[in-house]
Amino acid sequence: MKKAYRASLLRFDDTGRALFDEDGLLVVAPDADGRQCVLDAGPHASVAPRHPDADVTPLPGRMLAPGFIDMHIHFPQTDIIGAPADGLLPWLENYTFPAESRFAQRAHSDAVAEVFFDELLRNGVTTSLTFATSHVESVQAFFEAAQRRRLRMITGKVLQDRHSPDGVRDDTEQSLIDTESLIRRWHNVDRLGYAITPRFAPTSTDAQMRGAGDLAAKYPDTWIHSHVAENKDEVKWARELFPQARSYLDVYQGFGLMRERAVYAHCIHFDDDDRRLMRETKSATAVSPTSNLFLGSGFFDFEGADRIGYRYGLASDVGGGTSFSPFATMMAAYYVGREGQTKPGISIPPSQLWWRHTGGAAQALGLGGVIGTLQPGTEADFVVINPKATPLLARKTALAENLEELLFAMIVLGDDRLIEGTVISQALAG
Ligand code: GUN
Ligand code: ZN
Repeated sequence: MKKAYRASLLRFDDTGRALFDEDGLLVVAPDADGRQCVLDAGPHASVAPRHPDADVTPLPGRMLAPGFIDMHIHFPQTDIIGAPADGLLPWLENYTFPAESRFAQRAHSDAVAEVFFDELLRNGVTTSLTFATSHVESVQAFFEAAQRRRLRMITGKVLQDRHSPDGVRDDTEQSLIDTESLIRRWHNVDRLGYAITPRFAPTSTDAQMRGAGDLAAKYPDTWIHSHVAENKDEVKWARELFPQARSYLDVYQGFGLMRERAVYAHCIHFDDDDRRLMRETKSATAVSPTSNLFLGSGFFDFEGADRIGYRYGLASDVGGGTSFSPFATMMAAYYVGREGQTKPGISIPPSQLWWRHTGGAAQALGLGGVIGTLQPGTEADFVVINPKATPLLARKTALAENLEELLFAMIVLGDDRLIEGTVISQALAG
């Protein structure tokens, strides 16, 4: 049963080059597992004759694009977006840990998971690498809700057995037992994946970090998800706690927590040795610019990352980040490129910003060829964009003379109103 959608079509190749068809056709069909995958895509004039049997939905004036991928977000922080604080550590203590302690209750976890997925999908985000809390209940609630919605989603129980208040601090041995049973219960079930999630090195004992590294070796296709080098006070603290390590990042390497599918949020206060360690271990950075600007953490060095050549993609980091919208994140990444670099600043091309939030993020997550590009064989998670969603967007997108101008108009002026629909690669009913 082939379905097809006729609209303008944005895709990416594996090098990050944007492909655009003004009058495009996206053809989807179920694979052997019943997942809707892209069968064919490209200009309507050449693709349509190959599929006379497809059931075509015309979407005039609309643009189809890969679903966005958020490389780092905290579902339990949905309600603390916009909590002001004098930097990361007071923000954690005064807002984050009290809010997260409520996720010991399953009913609260269930309620927030629903709000979270509604919000992701309204904003066109179809996959996220997601922090839960230290409570097993939060992970169960997340996976069950994601499974019902047939989403490709990744999360894991947060590990934090020290320097954390009652209510969120876990027990070393039990935390590792729980992690392993959650991996066995959920990893690779439908489109769900497990991430071994030490919160950050300062809140885990050596024993917990070692246990996390052992699990990462035992289950090599799970993800590893943590924070590093976000804030200067945090870096100082980590250096005091782990004086033997060459750098804060090197702490994770010492515990076997750097490999493909290891994702570290922020990576701001790095030197070139850290960047090389990221490259050599195939680890990736989740660049979180709205969070870094909001908490005053600093600026990700895009130039340094590209010069050394390691993997990264974009992330909201809600609730340190201020928006679920990929347009807000791409805009903030552009500002950081302009102002946050060793001078002169760089102007990241709009199609590159978009790639870092779709196909590039998929590659950084080790999901290249699976999601993020709308190339044939990939899963058909996509957004239906209305470029005329507001009067100003209608004017500005109509004036665009090329693809970069069109994408930039949406990045600068866009928000959730641009996303008219989010289509998930569901198994066919029956
Ligand atoms: N470092 C440790 N925990 C957190 C968190 O919840 N948010 C951010 N932004 N940084 C962290
Ligand atoms: Zn975070």
